[in-house]
Amino acid sequence: MVNIEMETCRLTDYADLESYRANLQAKKTENKVITICCGTGCLAYGASKIGQSFKDEIKNQGLEGTVSVKFTGCQGFCERGPLVVIRPENILYQRVKPEDVSRIVTETIRNDLILDDLLYTIPSTNEKVRCEEDVPFYKKQLRLVFGTNGYIDPTSLDDYIQAGGYQALNKVLSSMSPDEVVDEIKISGLRGRGGGGFATGAKWEITREAPGELKYVICNCDEGDPGAFMDRSLMEGNPHSIIEGMVIAAYAVGARQGYIYIRNEYPVALKNSEIAIKKAEEKGLLGKNILGTGFDFSIKISRGGGAFVCGESTALMASIEGRTGEPRANYIHTSEKGLWERPTLLNNVETLANIPLIINKGAEWFYGIGTGNSKGTKIFSLVGKVHNTGLIEVPMGITLREIIYEIGGGIPGGKKFKAVQTGGPSGGCLPEEKLDLSVDFDELSRAGSMMGSGAMIVMDEDNCMVDIARYFLSFLEEESCGKCVPCREGLKRMRQILDRIIEGKGQDEDIELLIDLSESLTMGALCGLGGSAGNPVLSTIRHFKDEYVAHIQEKRCPAGVCKPLIRYYIVEANCNGCSLCIKECPADAISFQGKKQPVKLDQDKCTKCGACYDICRLNAVEVK
Ligand code: SF4
Ligand code: SF4
Ligand code: SF4
Ligand code: FES
Repeated sequence: MVNIEMETCRLTDYADLESYRANLQAKKTENKVITICCGTGCLAYGASKIGQSFKDEIKNQGLEGTVSVKFTGCQGFCERGPLVVIRPENILYQRVKPEDVSRIVTETIRNDLILDDLLYTIPSTNEKVRCEEDVPFYKKQLRLVFGTNGYIDPTSLDDYIQAGGYQALNKVLSSMSPDEVVDEIKISGLRGRGGGGFATGAKWEITREAPGELKYVICNCDEGDPGAFMDRSLMEGNPHSIIEGMVIAAYAVGARQGYIYIRNEYPVALKNSEIAIKKAEEKGLLGKNILGTGFDFSIKISRGGGAFVCGESTALMASIEGRTGEPRANYIHTSEKGLWERPTLLNNVETLANIPLIINKGAEWFYGIGTGNSKGTKIFSLVGKVHNTGLIEVPMGITLREIIYEIGGGIPGGKKFKAVQTGGPSGGCLPEEKLDLSVDFDELSRAGSMMGSGAMIVMDEDNCMVDIARYFLSFLEEESCGKCVPCREGLKRMRQILDRIIEGKGQDEDIELLIDLSESLTMGALCGLGGSAGNPVLSTIRHFKDEYVAHIQEKRCPAGVCKPLIRYYIVEANCNGCSLCIKECPADAISFQGKKQPVKLDQDKCTKCGACYDICRLNAVEVK
C-alpha cells in the first residue's frame, strides 16, 4: 500500500527516482496478490464485477494488508476470460464468475487448496493445469514486452516504478548522449513493429540529423487491422512503458513535443494513457525539467476517428493537424518534413515499448534474440480456427507450426488446417506447405505475405480462399481514401471481378485480370494501403489457384461457402428422421417423411442458411 505522500512527491533527480523505487519495494506488505485481467476482452466478460467482489470478499474475510487485489491489463489468453491469477504461485483460474469469488478466497487464498473446476484443461489430454506458465498457450512464448501486463495495474505509476519502470530513462538521461542512444537502438537491430519493418535506429538517426529546432515524436496507436489488438492491449495494460519509450526517443532525436494518436473507439487505452501522462507529469518524469535535467518533453493525446488509412504516417499527421486524413506522396520523408512540416519521428506502440528493454538490458542482449535481420520478439493476435486464441509474444524465428499447434493448440473439431493469413488486410494467406516457415520479416515477405502489425488469422477446410480474398479486398475498398485512381478504381474493379466469380459468373481470363490489376495497384498507388492491397488476391491465387479454377470453370465452391455455388442435401443413409433440422429451418424447406425415415429437402424453398447443417449431429446434411 502506498501512502498519499508517496503518490504526490515530485522526483527531482536520478537518485530520487531510485530511492523512491526502493521505498515502494520496502513498503510491500502483501503475501499474495490476486490479479484480475481488466483488458477490454475480460471487461466484456464481466471482469470489473468480479474485481469488486474480490475487494469486498478480502475485506469481509479480514485479509486486507496481507492479500491485495490488482486490476491488470490484458494477459493474452482473452478467449478464456475473465482471467484471475494468484501470485506469487501464478495459479491461473479461467472463465471465473462472480459466484466463484468467495470460494477462491476461502479455499485457495486461506487454505491453499486448488479449485480444479476453474483450471485450464488441455483439450487433447484432459489434463488440468495449475500454473500460468505451464499452460501450453503460454509455455512457448517469450513475453518480454507484453508479460508485465499481467503484473501491474496500468493506472498506477508506482506499480510500474516498482517493477523497474523509468530505469531506462534514468540511465539515458544520466549517462548517455543522444547519439549514444541512437547508436544503441541501431546496434540492437530493432525494426518497426507497425508494418513496414523499417530499421528503428536508422529512422531515429535521420530525424536527429534533420535540420530544425522544432521536432516531434508520435506514437501510432491507430491499430485498425481486423482481428488485431496488440497495440491497443499494450496501451491499455502498460502505458508507462510506451511513455518511457517516447521520452527516450524524444531525447535521442531532439524533440520537445509528442503525440499519442489513439482511435477514439479504444476507450480503455485512451483512459489509461491519459492517467499515465498525468501521473508521469506530476512525478517529474514528463513535461518540464524531467528528473531535474533541464530536458523538457510533453505528450498530448490526439484521437483518431477510426479510418484505417490514418494508420499511414502522412495521413495520421494530417489528421493530428486537423486536416482530412489522406496520405501524401511518400518521396517527402516525414523524418524530415512531417507534422506541421517539421522533422517527425513516428513509431508504433510495440516499437516504443521495446525501447526501455533495450536500454536496460543492452543492445547486444536484444540482438541475440531472433533471426538474421529480425531481432527480438513480436506480439501477434492469434485468432480464427485455433483452440487457443488471444495475444501471444514469440521470438522472431519461431515457426508457424509451433504458433498454431503448440501455442494455439491446433484446429478445433478435427478439421484440417487450410491457411494462415498474416500481416493484416494487406497481408497474404500461407498454405500448409509453409507451416514450417520461420516467422520473421524477410521469410514472410519471401512467401508472399508480410509481418504487418501482427494479425494472424487461422483458417480451416471450411474457409473458401476466394471468399477470404474478397473479404479483405472489400475492407480495403471501403477504407481507401479515394485520392488516387489505381487504388480507388482498381480495388472496386477487383472486388467486382471476385463478386462475379463467387456468383458463378467468372470467366477464364479473370485470374489474369486480377493479377494485372494487383500489379498496377502496387506500382501506381500513392500510399502503402493501395500499394499492398493486391496481396490477399495475389497470395490466394499463388497458393490456392485450384479454388479459383473450381469457382470459374466448374462453378463449384470446394469449401461449400459461396452461396450461389452450393446446395444442401440430405444424406439419406445417415438421417434417422429426428426432425431437429425441421424445427431449425427458417424456410420450411425440410419435411417429415415418417418415423425413422429420412427427411426431404426442397431445393426451391431452401435459402442456403446452413442451419440444418449446423444442427445435425449425424452428418446427415451435406453441402456441395
Ligand atoms: S493508395 Fe488508396 S488509400 Fe493510399 S492515397 Fe491512394 S487512394 Fe488513398
Ligand atoms: S437433423 Fe440430421 S438426422 Fe435429424 S432429421 Fe435432420 S438431417 Fe436427419
Ligand atoms: S440450408 Fe437453411 S433454408 Fe436450406 S434447408 Fe437447411 S435450414 Fe432450411
Ligand atoms: S482481455 Fe483478459 S486476457 Fe485479454
